Amino acid sequence: MLPLTESTDYRAFCEERLGNPYPLFDRLRSEDPVHWCEPMKLWLVTGYDDCFTGLKDERFSSDRTDMYVQALPIEMRQRVQPLLDHVSKWIQLTDEPDHTRLRKLVILAFTPKMIQQLKPRIEVLVDGLLDGVAVGEPTDLVATFCGPLPATVICEMLGIPVAERDAFRLMTERVMHFSTAGGPRLKNHAEDAAEALKGLIDMFERLIAERRVAPCEDLLSALVRAEADGERLSNEELHAMCVFVFLAGHETTTNGIASGILALLQHPDQLAELKANVDGTVRGAVEEALRYESPVTRAVRKARVDFEFGGKAIKQGQLVVFLLGAANRDPKQFPEPAKFDIRREIKRHLAFGYGSHFCLGAVLARMEMEIAFRSLVRRLPNVKLASNDLAWKPTMGIRALVKLPVSVSESP
Ligand code: HEM
Repeated sequence: MLPLTESTDYRAFCEERLGNPYPLFDRLRSEDPVHWCEPMKLWLVTGYDDCFTGLKDERFSSDRTDMYVQALPIEMRQRVQPLLDHVSKWIQLTDEPDHTRLRKLVILAFTPKMIQQLKPRIEVLVDGLLDGVAVGEPTDLVATFCGPLPATVICEMLGIPVAERDAFRLMTERVMHFSTAGGPRLKNHAEDAAEALKGLIDMFERLIAERRVAPCEDLLSALVRAEADGERLSNEELHAMCVFVFLAGHETTTNGIASGILALLQHPDQLAELKANVDGTVRGAVEEALRYESPVTRAVRKARVDFEFGGKAIKQGQLVVFLLGAANRDPKQFPEPAKFDIRREIKRHLAFGYGSHFCLGAVLARMEMEIAFRSLVRRLPNVKLASNDLAWKPTMGIRALVKLPVSVSESP
């Protein structure tokens, strides 16, 4: 077996272990739970307790735009400056007092009432997509179901016209390739992301101008008029919020639905239990899917000061990666963590993060996953995995299936 330092180099971490990163996570957690990864020049935190305490520790900052800046060649930085300025305004990368102010404003637009109102519409969308799944032919559920559902929901929620949805989605994906790339890959995506962002902002700017004149019941209008303590989002903050919510709201949920369905198909006993008592088990299935294959693998922070954490001396400015997917497989918190068990009593998984940056879309994501699982087993009870040859997207930040090949038959 490779020594830990070599086995956590960037290439090994990202590429060779994509199919199953968990043996490496387990090894890190038991041998060196707060591990300095020299090739990547950052700390990897794998234990549940360390992630839980770290994510609410104010000695860690979320402002890590310089991580993006430093990963780019100097001559490229100037060319992509608008992208870097924009990313620095993403709510996830801000600290208080900006973070508190932004969160207060955006929460006004994300009311539980607004989310609940989406439920019947999501049910209709799910049924429509499942109607399109052909019986007797192989189908990729990522392309036909898990992808289109959250993308349509976030577009409708924001108020993006149907005709422009694909353009928004494709441009957002190009920005996302940059933001989730990490390390040496960042430079490969920066210029393309900067170009896509320009187009994206022009499109949002046009829709925002329309909402200022004629507001309606969508999230975009709510963000435009959101006001707290006499403050509103500046134009740049509004752009950053629109892009970030769009980006945060669909790929993550796509992955949650796809990995959850995969886990169910790979565990026929659990699938049978869900089918037999869908009302009683579907919520547990959603939480277990989020724990078992956490769609967002990591939350990154930067040390504000020198301090000791998990027995290690962390230096000011160093990056610390809280591996949520590893914490959610910590046997101290979740006995037999590699077992997929929809009846598990989950104490508190970290799939939506923890602390002040806890996911703003958790209620919506859970609702989409629940409706997707519920409708899938009711409408397509004879769905089966068509191949075990599964590919995962080559990134350390998200856990994303490239395709989910299934076959659907009339009878079991
Ligand atoms: C299964 C789906 C989802 C997962 C696993 C997920 C996961 C996460 C995680 C782990 C964080 C915290 C990151 C950190 O601490 O650095 C986060 C933040 C966030 N998420 Fe989600 N998310 C999901 C769906 C959504 C949806 C549907 C939306 C919006 C429609 C959304 C909007 C946000 C926003 C705005 C933040 C930033 C909050 C802040 O910084 O204060 N997410 N999400």
